[in-house]
Amino acid sequence: MAQWLPVQDEIGVGPWPGEWPTTEDGSPDPRYDEALLADGDRRNVVDRYRYWTQEAIVADLDRHRHDFHIAVENWGHDFNIGSVIRTANAFNAKAFHIVGKRRWNRRGAMVTDRYQHELHHADVDSLREWAGDLPLIGIDNLPGSLPIETYDLPRECVLVFGQEGPGLSAQMRAACTAILHIEQFGSTRSINAGAAAAIAMHMWILRHVHGQG
Ligand SMILES: C[S@@+](CC[C@H](N)C(=O)[O-])C[C@H]1O[C@@H](n2cnc3c(N)ncnc32)[C@H](O)[C@@H]1O
Repeated sequence: MAQWLPVQDEIGVGPWPGEWPTTEDGSPDPRYDEALLADGDRRNVVDRYRYWTQEAIVADLDRHRHDFHIAVENWGHDFNIGSVIRTANAFNAKAFHIVGKRRWNRRGAMVTDRYQHELHHADVDSLREWAGDLPLIGIDNLPGSLPIETYDLPRECVLVFGQEGPGLSAQMRAACTAILHIEQFGSTRSINAGAAAAIAMHMWILRHVHGQG
């Protein structure tokens, strides 16, 4: 018979029970945030980072970030950007890049952007210049694009996503080393940009973390 886990009706954890954590010499462990220890931690973080300061979490993530960056074109404040940035956090991307307007719709990011490195580029040329030898890999289903499922995705790269509606701009397409599409089988022309970004990042994880493909 199936065993059901009890429903968790509270998000996060309450105040730290007992003595507060210390380092080996008995001094307070600087990774821990005193306010969170006292009041509880209701943030959207994995359990191993409960009660840690934001700075300590970022420093720990920095120690094992993956070698892919992501870039999103931001000409029309696409609401999908937040979801793309949240996924970049989940897969521990090296950094995320906003190309175009500096302000972007942060709502869907659910504050996950605070644990990442954010770079802004006013236009495609400045992203291209920043990238140097790093290949820009466009993700879009365009005439001439190659299937991401069989492409030899480089370990060090920038995965570049377009916006709902127009997709990758003509300038961005021209700046990309390759444009890759996610194979589709239904009738819709495209999938949601946030969903496409999640699939593309996971393709990188399958190839470079799990050695598949
Ligand atoms: C609505 S789509 C762009 C329009 C699309 N090129 C078309 O022909 O309708 C918005 C963004 O989602 C991503 N996207 C959606 N479907 C995709 C797919 N099948 N393969 C790769 N990227 C996709 C791309 O980053 C794209 O720029």
